[in-house]
Amino acid sequence: MCLRYVMYTSTAAPELGDAELLGLLVRARHNNQALGITGVLVRRDPCFLQYLEGPAATLATLTQTIAADSRHLHFQIVAEGDLQGRQFGEWSMDLRGAHGADFLSDEELADDPEGIKYMLYGFATTLL
Ligand SMILES: Cc1cc2nc3c(=O)[nH]c(=O)nc-3n(C[C@H](O)[C@H](O)[C@H](O)COP(=O)(O)O)c2cc1C
Repeated sequence: MCLRYVMYTSTAAPELGDAELLGLLVRARHNNQALGITGVLVRRDPCFLQYLEGPAATLATLTQTIAADSRHLHFQIVAEGDLQGRQFGEWSMDLRGAHGADFLSDEELADDPEGIKYMLYGFATTLL
């Protein structure tokens, strides 16, 4: 199975409040679990940085669905590529803040064989 990742940034639509975002996440986790997608959604109001990983074809279809979602704007892929292994295998979609230990723990950063978390950290600190 060919494993790939996608990272994108976007801006929350004005009508996407906290309650709607939590509802969206419940649905996303349910879908991702069924699809074999894992990752994290980093939020720094009003911006998002999402990292998704999973089987190539499934990921491509889900990315198109997410890109077309009117609950966020200015969807822009910032990185994508092949993966040897999952970087966030235990998270069907975790929601995190953009700074410090809220974002990535020292333990997670220490386990980064493909440099993905380092890249995510770089995007979060410069783009969000
Ligand atoms: C910022 C953002 C992140 C999203 N992330 C996911 C996701 O990880 N997985 C997912 O299935 N849907 C995600 N969605 C929702 C999708 O765009 C789409 O609404 C959903 O996949 C449709 O699923 P449903 O038909 O089960 O409601 C996200 C939407 C937004 C705005």
